Amino acid sequence: MKILGIETSCDETAAAVVEDGRHIHSNVVASQAQIHAEYGGIIPEVASRQHLLTLVPVIRSALDRVGLELDALDGIAVTNGPGLAGSLLVGVNAAKGLALAAGSPLIGVNHLEGHIYAAWLEEADPAVEPGFPLLCLIASGGHTDLIVMEGHGRYILVGRTRDDAAGEAFDKAARVLRLGFPGGPAIQKSAEGSRAMEPPLPRPRIKDSLDFSFSGLKSALLRRAEERGWYPPKPGSELDPGEVSEMAAAFQDAAVDAMATRTVEAAVEHRVRGVILGGGVAANTQLRLEVGRRSPAPVIVPRPALCTDNGAMIGAAGWFHLRDGPDYQWSMDVEPRMRLG
Ligand code: KG4
Ligand code: ZN
Repeated sequence: MKILGIETSCDETAAAVVEDGRHIHSNVVASQAQIHAEYGGIIPEVASRQHLLTLVPVIRSALDRVGLELDALDGIAVTNGPGLAGSLLVGVNAAKGLALAAGSPLIGVNHLEGHIYAAWLEEADPAVEPGFPLLCLIASGGHTDLIVMEGHGRYILVGRTRDDAAGEAFDKAARVLRLGFPGGPAIQKSAEGSRAMEPPLPRPRIKDSLDFSFSGLKSALLRRAEERGWYPPKPGSELDPGEVSEMAAAFQDAAVDAMATRTVEAAVEHRVRGVILGGGVAANTQLRLEVGRRSPAPVIVPRPALCTDNGAMIGAAGWFHLRDGPDYQWSMDVEPRMRLG
């Protein structure tokens, strides 16, 4: 069964054709990162206008790469939450129009569930489908959630961030260090091969809970930047690239340690049979290595391009929904604050 997956919840306009929830036939992502980089962050109004301009060519390209016409599809899956309302609306309305025209099933997908199902894509061998329960860390620009997945479509939220999301913390830290947007890849690149600045930055812990907190780490970084006169930025001033790299490495060490520690604690507590990492922050090499090294259960991490937002993960989740649930969801609406578990 071939499903078209559409994703427009944030700043990536994406469409993909995925077969049976696993095999990627095409996967087209048009990133708006460069446009938002000018403003140092995502501007919702700009994002939705850009989706309007880009979505049709992106879908066309995803279909053309496979030589498929709309009526050959077995379903159209689209992210309908959580995310930016205006951005979600573009994808959901396009999907409804296409499904109506093609007489095809229409499936709404929770974006976070999409990040989880990226783990079923492509490289995964159907014979080694991980056993349940699984623990999923979803770390993105808007979420840092620990979710126990008991079976397909069955989720329990066991930990979440009390303040900033992990990706948001990376993005803010990169702004202070003048490394550009998006901050996660920029911090990783700057930190590469550098020693971490001493003393280490704090790893905030919330007692007796699997929740995360990143605001203390963010404030600690800001204080150090202020002490060095890096922040607030003075016109014409330049930062020493070596020192910036040391600070970036210190930040990455602390953020990764906090995420890996909680993830492993949750995996032990819930006696899971596997750990899935998903969301843009799961593209981080150090996080992947650290969780892989410490986890008591096998770790499944999609390749970096499938961790950041894409249509293939929505097509994959959509196939599992179509297999198990209702298939013509015409009354579906966008839910910017949709939750999972
Ligand atoms: O999942 P995603 O593409 O979009 C959302 O659903 O939010 O995640 C985007 C976030 C951004 O905050 C970005 O800085 C972060 O993922 N990110 C990374 C890396 N690549 C992307 N964070 C740390 N290390 C990376 N290599
Ligand atoms: Zn995402």
